[in-house]
Amino acid sequence: MKTILIATQKPFAKVAVNQMKQIAEEKGYNVVLLEKYAEQTDFEKAVTDCDAIIIRSDLATKAVLDAAKNLKIIVRAGAGYDNIDLAAATANNIVAMNTPGQNSNAVAELVFGMMVFAARNGYDGKDGIELRGKKLGIHAYGNVVRYVAEIARGFGMAVYAFDPYVSKEKMQAEGVTPVNSIEELYSTCQYVSLHIPATSETKKSINFSLLNKMPQGAVLVNTARKEVIDEDGLLQMMENRSDFKYLSDIAPDCAHVFAEKFEGNYFFTPKKLGAQTAEANINAGIAAVNQIIDFFETGNATYKVNK
Ligand SMILES: NC(=O)c1ccc[n+]([C@@H]2O[C@H](COP(=O)([O-])OP(=O)(O)OC[C@H]3O[C@@H](n4cnc5c(N)ncnc54)[C@H](O)[C@@H]3O)[C@@H](O)[C@H]2O)c1
Repeated sequence: MKTILIATQKPFAKVAVNQMKQIAEEKGYNVVLLEKYAEQTDFEKAVTDCDAIIIRSDLATKAVLDAAKNLKIIVRAGAGYDNIDLAAATANNIVAMNTPGQNSNAVAELVFGMMVFAARNGYDGKDGIELRGKKLGIHAYGNVVRYVAEIARGFGMAVYAFDPYVSKEKMQAEGVTPVNSIEELYSTCQYVSLHIPATSETKKSINFSLLNKMPQGAVLVNTARKEVIDEDGLLQMMENRSDFKYLSDIAPDCAHVFAEKFEGNYFFTPKKLGAQTAEANINAGIAAVNQIIDFFETGNATYKVNK
């Protein structure tokens, strides 16, 4: 019988764990839980006999992967996987996977939650504005965007997108107008929602000259990564354009300057909340179990992230 270790310093919700166990056990797998462990060495000790591991933000270091002598697959229940030492996984012949898309709707709903909050001035009692009829620019067209575009249509927004790696035909088929450049996206849209990954190409790419192209009443929503923002340029935009609002699920390093100078023109979640819903939590855990079972039974490695 193969053993799946669920190693979560910050555990899944109980209801998620129960469903994950049920799915695995019905298929003849043994499930072992390591929750709220105190030390990284506890994780290293727990992996000796398992065939598969499911983690959340837990650190799958070289030490963990070297200690897991039977391990064939490790799945990060979530989108990011920079907490897995991919080189060590490959060296040990271990398949590393993520579960892309499982928290996308949760992130998309937060985008609109923040946009409505800002449009109504943080519910301060003063007249606000409506989202209907406004132009929303989607910067990158990945998993989260599928839901952003769908919800935007419900709000009656016109949706534009820029992603050099996705075909214009696909965007058009989904009711989205593709644009030819980032500059065109920012100069066209009053609202821009960021969905780019942090890569060498995108880090610090959202700068003053780009933001300053946005129309009056500009709003930038960031549920992606703080690294993609050029913070000096962002502060310059805040100084120069009192009409501009910045809404983010990832507070910038310069958040204290916002608190001192730009009250009312920004909103930051107190911690990263995009994927923090009961549903996303359950979806990602269940996807991880299903991917492991599928991998053992059919060899399917669709979501493999290491070479
Ligand atoms: N706030 C949260 O809790 C939370 C949760 C999930 C994802 N995220 C972040 O949201 C972002 C989007 O996630 P996703 O699941 O949709 O990612 P995804 O991998 O499905 O899509 C990323 C998209 O970015 C595009 N892209 C890459 N480089 C680009 C560039 N230079 N210009 C334009 N487009 C480019 C790719 O073609 C792809 O379509 C990521 O940064 C992710 O880390 C945040």
